[in-house]
Amino acid sequence: MIVVTGATGNVGRPLVQALAAAGEQVTAVSRNVSATAVPEGVRPHQADLADPESLRPVLDGADALFLHDTGPNAYQLNPRDILDVAKSAGVGRVVLLSSQGVETRPESESHGGRMRAIEDAVRESGVEWTILRPGGFNSNAFAWAEPIRTQRTVFAPFGDVGLPTVDPDDIAEVAATALREKGHAGQSYVLTGPELNTPRAQAEALGAALGEPIRFVELTREEARAKLLQFIPEPVVDTTLAVLGEPKPEEQRISPDVEKVLGRAPRPFGEWAERNAAAFR
Ligand SMILES: NC(=O)c1ccc[n+]([C@@H]2O[C@H](COP(=O)([O-])OP(=O)(O)OC[C@H]3O[C@@H](n4cnc5c(N)ncnc54)[C@H](OP(=O)(O)O)[C@@H]3O)[C@@H](O)[C@H]2O)c1
Repeated sequence: MIVVTGATGNVGRPLVQALAAAGEQVTAVSRNVSATAVPEGVRPHQADLADPESLRPVLDGADALFLHDTGPNAYQLNPRDILDVAKSAGVGRVVLLSSQGVETRPESESHGGRMRAIEDAVRESGVEWTILRPGGFNSNAFAWAEPIRTQRTVFAPFGDVGLPTVDPDDIAEVAATALREKGHAGQSYVLTGPELNTPRAQAEALGAALGEPIRFVELTREEARAKLLQFIPEPVVDTTLAVLGEPKPEEQRISPDVEKVLGRAPRPFGEWAERNAAAFR
């Protein structure tokens, strides 16, 4: 049995599908997951990671756990309690969805420090572990869905700054491999896409997927900051803008790790855009 937390998210959903398709017994965990949200044969289980004991019923007897932090809610998480429950329940292997920010932005609590604490808890748990450190997700482009649907326009800052954004389905496939196969224990993988994508090029790729041109309007840093502050706390906004606007060399480096694990190159942004075009129509 493999337990997948964050099972309805950008990574968890394709991970549950991949594991079920490979014939694994899977329990899909999130606060609101239901039978209609998971493939046939997958067991849904509602639990809140802020309450580690709510995981115990599904971790008892499980072989492996995919641990997903819960974004801004993770500030309330006590990862050591989650790992204690997993260990005492007999879980033998944990794959953690972390972030490249642990290495590249250690000074930032939101991008580095928070995930570093979860990584430390995983490494010190005594359970076999693999850590996944993705860069920015292609699915962050869902933030453009509404203006693309209504105005065929992307509004974004730093139009010509490229980052090797990664397809969440590739993260899921690497996770599925690390959960099912030997040879990944004690490894930390940096997961990126195959190329640098600028926001302007991403808008073009979405236009190609829709068969209609998408206008790109470059926001100033201050305009972008004001927009983001409506949704996320100030320190998170400032680090996000630093990554998008002045990426460090290691944030622009294309990692070999997806290919190392999967034996094929990571998928380009254009493929993600085609698969997800319906969200932008
Ligand atoms: N986006 C990026 O560019 C990026 C880059 C690097 C790393 N990351 C990491 O990846 C994570 C985001 O992954 P994602 O895009 O797959 O997330 P997502 O699509 O936002 O999905 C979040 C999942 O977690 C569940 N969840 C949220 N709070 C929960 C709680 N308290 N207890 C149990 N389940 C909870 C949600 O379901 P319910 O609402 O039903 O609970 C959902 O299944 C972030 O946390 C971040 O640290 C992201």
